[in-house]
Amino acid sequence: MSKPMIHSNDGIFYIENVPVKKITEDYGTPAYVYSKQLIIDTFHSFRNSFKQFDPLVCFAVKANSNIAILNLLAEQGAGFDIVSEGELKRVIAAHGDPRKVVFSGIGKSINEISFAINHNILAFNVESEGELRRIQSVAKSLNKKASISIRVNPNVDAKTHPYISTGLKDNKFGVDENKSVELYCLAKDMDAIEIKGIDCHIGSQITDINPFIDSTKKLVALIDHLKTLDIHIEHIDIGGGLGINYNDELPPTFLEYAEAMSHVIGTRKLKVIFEPGRSLIGKAGVLLTNVEYIKEGPNKNFAIIDAAMNDLMRPSLYDAYHEIINIDAHQCIRKKYDIVGPVCETGDFLGKERLLAIKDNDTLAVLDTGAYGMSMSSNYNSRPRAIELMVDDEIVHVIRERENFEHLIFGESLLP
Ligand code: LLP
Repeated sequence: MSKPMIHSNDGIFYIENVPVKKITEDYGTPAYVYSKQLIIDTFHSFRNSFKQFDPLVCFAVKANSNIAILNLLAEQGAGFDIVSEGELKRVIAAHGDPRKVVFSGIGKSINEISFAINHNILAFNVESEGELRRIQSVAKSLNKKASISIRVNPNVDAKTHPYISTGLKDNKFGVDENKSVELYCLAKDMDAIEIKGIDCHIGSQITDINPFIDSTKKLVALIDHLKTLDIHIEHIDIGGGLGINYNDELPPTFLEYAEAMSHVIGTRKLKVIFEPGRSLIGKAGVLLTNVEYIKEGPNKNFAIIDAAMNDLMRPSLYDAYHEIINIDAHQCIRKKYDIVGPVCETGDFLGKERLLAIKDNDTLAVLDTGAYGMSMSSNYNSRPRAIELMVDDEIVHVIRERENFEHLIFGESLLP
């Protein structure tokens, strides 16, 4: 059982074996910090839970695309779920194996398809008939074969935030379950296409096991039906989406999830692929930030910090909750604060109505920000992106430098 990301000993907070205060003194804030051990342990715990399937765990690169993290996961045997050429190039830069890569996404360009075929990826997760025809034509022009799965839209309600729900008929993702058989038949007759698998991904931060069961059941029924049409599926890719506990959610454990899937898949001889993002990395990262000012208003108290919505978009975008703790424990009175950044938008908050004892210059840690934190950050308000650090026992590694002004204006020029 690995230690939680931040743990305290005699009132001092640590990440692995480094005091958090030492990290902020040495590297400043805002800073994204990850725990190497926690990433490794979570990956193995996920994979071991599914060991009866001999699974391929394809980390969803969009959740955290830092090449040090991709490299760490590749070293543990991970494959990757990508959605762009940029993500495939990151996997390659991180020494990941393109033959363990599945390529999802509804808008794959000709160049992206060609790049992926040339790198012999494991499978394209095809999201439309137009895409299937495009892959056939690109593969043919390259004199190669492209391996595919069809991403089925199972019309299942993932019961998550509407912005991150992807498996309903009204969503733009995947192929309608009724149309998918037709598409497999079309693919079977294409000379540059090799049918490998079937795929679905129904949404993210899913905390109820039933949508997973319902969608996998549909996939399995389709596999059985395709067999009668002499179409043989080698792998079932059940996507990502497993939620984590940010506040009071109770997502299924890896083992509960595995057990449910094993029940549905039964004894069929299928290779199983997963595309987890958040459940592998979410808990293994924190955002450290400094309190610049305390501002007490007539109706509200604000703690104004040096991190903002450009560093962590989730609260502004989805009203997402992240626990916030004060690393500098002290005796001042606890009050309710809105934890807000310097960006000029009322929507720029990382937490609301948090009961905390805070004073100027305290260090706060915004928890569970390993997934969709840095990877969704921006330079809004011309704010340089945060530094990224990886703690390995007693050592802190810089895995991405703090941006500076040169990064901010890179590629821009004045008119002649
Ligand atoms: N596979 C596909 C095709 C996906 O689109 C995604 C995430 C995943 C796998 C990984 O899902 P996960 O295991 O991480 O739930 N920005 C949002 C989440 C967007 C998820 C997009 N797709 C957030 O911050 O909550």
